[in-house]
Amino acid sequence: MSRPAPEKRLFIKTYGCQMNVYDSERMADVLAPLGYGMTDTPEDADLVVLNTCHIREKATEKVYSELGQIRLMKLARQEAGAGMTIAVAGCVAQAEGEEIMRRQPAVDLVVGPQAYHQMPELIARAHRARGERLSADFAAEDKFDALPAERNPTGVTAFLTVQEGCDKFCTFCVVPYTRGAEWSRPAAAILAEAQSLARQGVREVTLLGQNVNAYRDPDAGGGLAALARALAKIPGLDRIRYTTSHPRDMDDELIAAHGELEALMPFLHLPVQSGSDRILKAMNRGHTVETYLRLIEKIRAARPDIAISSDYIVGFPGEREADFEATLALVRQMGHASAFSFKYSRRPGTPASALPGQVPEEVMAERLARLQALLDEQQVAFNAAQVGRTLPVLFERKGRHEGQLVGRSPYLQGVHAIADASLIGQIARVRIDGASKNSLSGVMAEKPQPAPALEPL
Ligand code: SAH
Ligand code: SF4
Ligand code: F3S
Repeated sequence: MSRPAPEKRLFIKTYGCQMNVYDSERMADVLAPLGYGMTDTPEDADLVVLNTCHIREKATEKVYSELGQIRLMKLARQEAGAGMTIAVAGCVAQAEGEEIMRRQPAVDLVVGPQAYHQMPELIARAHRARGERLSADFAAEDKFDALPAERNPTGVTAFLTVQEGCDKFCTFCVVPYTRGAEWSRPAAAILAEAQSLARQGVREVTLLGQNVNAYRDPDAGGGLAALARALAKIPGLDRIRYTTSHPRDMDDELIAAHGELEALMPFLHLPVQSGSDRILKAMNRGHTVETYLRLIEKIRAARPDIAISSDYIVGFPGEREADFEATLALVRQMGHASAFSFKYSRRPGTPASALPGQVPEEVMAERLARLQALLDEQQVAFNAAQVGRTLPVLFERKGRHEGQLVGRSPYLQGVHAIADASLIGQIARVRIDGASKNSLSGVMAEKPQPAPALEPL
């Protein structure tokens, strides 16, 4: 179905986690019927949306400097007799609310993550008057009911939000404050969205949630394992991933599903944050190094080839050299496929921000460099270990070089191969013959199987 040519231009810039990427797509969906089409250049946009992240200080500050630039574009447009509406969405909107408009008066509206379905109304109001520019109340149940049912996926992989919010209250983290309490979408709505995506050619979905494995169907009560089983039955949907999981919610049923469901990809992002029990306790993580390692053992017993990824924070208040070395020791024991690592960032309003023993910046920088060197080494080794193997690769798009396609291995590695463009959207076997830190390369191993027939539209 083709839409009428858009009359107004929409520019969205997305910061932060995959949940924001998903939300940005849904904002575009909700605004399309109002005549907004996407543009890549903010200078000629009628509506600029910054979908923001509050997780670390740097992420928040980036938003304010970007707003300064956009204000200049708005002034230039006004001089030329055109207008520009500036909206701030996402977690900074939720956390700072009206403060944003005080710091940057060019902002027309502020909209929190649970109010995107109200954007058309908010934009209309912003056009009428200043003052009614804030909508950041939590009412998560309304959001998904009021967003358009159909999505326009742009590729063969898609994000799909199944859960939002967090009740874990790690002492360093703003998410429980910006995204509210843990809340799950009904499985029926998720399955309908997934079916629609599959009909439009999506072969892989990544289920999203701030604590995705805390998912619980509000109607039938099933957990993430039951949801994955139902999704795996959808014709065409061959790959299922989920992120981000919390070690506390990794139940036996989900672990068993990793051993049984072919569609559930053998890559798990399961953040541990630190290798020191003293620090884990101060973080209020609810797990120890020992319980985390036992969990990993169980998961590997169910799915021996599973690749594990994690998040680490260095320089949490009170972290001593010995605590940090315990983190390095844990990383050595884990052998990660990849992992993220961050310097602790003091977030206003979180319990850890008031703790004694804040670690000096230079110490954090030095520890981060040591940790990242080790993680890089592991990532290089994990990729190199694939050379000589034949992996099923889901091809997503054309590569930079002539005749080349780019796809992903089951372990989320990017894979390049010379292959016919008709293979985009197909899973084909690739013999890996090269590896670098960030990707693999290979040659086609055999003719791919034709895709299973899709349900008619
Ligand atoms: N819900 C997810 C993570 C959300 S935030 C989870 O629990 O794993 C992503 C990562 O950002 C976290 O895992 C953590 O490592 C990091 N992070 C969160 N708050 C931080 C802070 N104040 N300083 C530094 N890193 C932080
Ligand atoms: Fe933040 Fe912890 Fe919740 Fe993850 S589990 S979102 S780190 S509070
Ligand atoms: Fe950032 Fe909010 Fe995601 S703070 S990491 S955008 S949940």
